[in-house]
Amino acid sequence: MPEAETTEPERRDEAQETAPAAEPDEAPYAPPSSSKPEDDATAPARSTSGEVQPIGSGPPPEDTIIELRDLHKSFGDLDVLNGASLSVERGTSAVVMGGSGAGKSVLLKHVVKLLTPDAGEPWVKGQRVDEMTGEELDDLRLSIGYLFQGGALFDSMSVEENMNFFLKRHSALSKGERQDRIEETLSWVNLVDTAPKYPAELSGGQQKRIGLARAIILQPEILLYDEPTTGLDPVSVRTVSDLIVRLRDERGITSVAITHDLLCAEIITDRAHFIYEGEILESGTLKELKHSDHPTIRNFFGN
Ligand SMILES: Nc1ncnc2c1ncn2[C@@H]1O[C@H](COP(=O)(O)OP(=O)(O)O)[C@@H](O)[C@H]1O
Ligand SMILES: [Mg+2]
Repeated sequence: MPEAETTEPERRDEAQETAPAAEPDEAPYAPPSSSKPEDDATAPARSTSGEVQPIGSGPPPEDTIIELRDLHKSFGDLDVLNGASLSVERGTSAVVMGGSGAGKSVLLKHVVKLLTPDAGEPWVKGQRVDEMTGEELDDLRLSIGYLFQGGALFDSMSVEENMNFFLKRHSALSKGERQDRIEETLSWVNLVDTAPKYPAELSGGQQKRIGLARAIILQPEILLYDEPTTGLDPVSVRTVSDLIVRLRDERGITSVAITHDLLCAEIITDRAHFIYEGEILESGTLKELKHSDHPTIRNFFGN
């Protein structure tokens, strides 16, 4: 179901595209001083269990790079998120699974404030992202790559021009540095040859990989993927999924991926979350979810 039909003022899927470029002398992101010290007896438990801290308990532990606490979101009469909670540890790959219309994309959009919750607390890198504005929000968004369902390339520009346009807009790199960065990134996804091509000339798998290249070209700390492998053949699913794993292992990138592709989930998942009617029903390893007793989850996995 295309989401573009609404005229809700807060739908700003292209917000990243229009975010102002960072100034060359801008200070890099620094965590707020409000993070709790390690030896603080009241500090929340480590997030390895994936336990989400309650509302009002302040920033999550430092290793918890994303924590969504009890998010509620409605559009008119439609309650989409009904208390969704999950946390993601730095350097891991989380996967959110669930049926169509369960609220997966809506949930992910809260991480970059493309949507703000009606209630609940979205924490990203130790800060309440829903309370961020202006330059602070721009900086945060620049540290998060977002791979949209559509791919997000301009059809009228070649792959190289697309990348250059994006870099020009969002970085202070010189022309030569931009060229190097584009080449390096394209070779990382093994698509240097596509630089002069237009998006329409690429296969579905290549388009996804170019989308991935575009999402990582600013060297983000966090990557959000909305259905990164949907519509791809199994070989391309594997290629894209392997790239996501390499981004975690070689660059330490934390990722959250929405997928209902089991092959992709099997390759990339450290921790899986199952969303149903706007609530996370269960979190665990993919194996744990696959063996869940919950009828809805069993049904999803065809058990
Ligand atoms: N901006 C919006 N305005 C109104 N309804 C929306 C908006 N975004 C999503 N929805 C609705 O919320 C529900 C969940 O959407 P979504 O999160 O995109 O589902 P999915 O789990 O398939 O990604 C759907 O019914 C969708 O139509
Ligand atoms: Mg979706």
